[in-house]
Amino acid sequence: MKVSKLIGSALVCAAFSASISAQEPQTGQVQTGKSLYEDNCAVCHQFDGGGVPFMQPELFGSKRANSPKGGVIDMILFGSAAEGAGQSGFTNEMPGFEFLTNEEIALIATYVRINFENNGGAVTADDVQPRRK
Ligand code: HEC
Repeated sequence: MKVSKLIGSALVCAAFSASISAQEPQTGQVQTGKSLYEDNCAVCHQFDGGGVPFMQPELFGSKRANSPKGGVIDMILFGSAAEGAGQSGFTNEMPGFEFLTNEEIALIATYVRINFENNGGAVTADDVQPRRK
């Protein structure tokens, strides 16, 4: 299946079951979040979320992924320019991903928050929009 078709069906899914997906993301959404993560984030944080020592952090037990949603949303939108970012000890800088849609950011944020031993829960497009500057 094409990625665009996947995103489309995940969005339809999200629109029709917003209240359900806020708790438990549907299988299609998790798949799309995974491919978006692999396209945009894995180059640095690695496919398995393990990061690279001294360059970029692992996402296992990520503070932002387990805290209120705003933390991880800001990190994706603004990268190292996000408030409170700029963790010491990493030589790389994280770019911002403001060019992604609210839905795409929500799917990636959800993927990160329910994988890599994180337990932060789902993020929706409605959570993302108010955090844009
Ligand atoms: C060019 C490399 C690079 C890319 C691409 C990148 N990151 Fe990062 N990321 C970093 C670095 C470096 C840090 C730590 C530096 C900082 O805090 O400013 C970081 C920090 C983070 C954190 C905070 C970790 C914590 O302690 O809670 C999260 C979450 C995160 N990234 C998620 C993502 C997601 C999701 C994507 C894809 C949309 C992504 N990153 C893309 C390099 C990258």
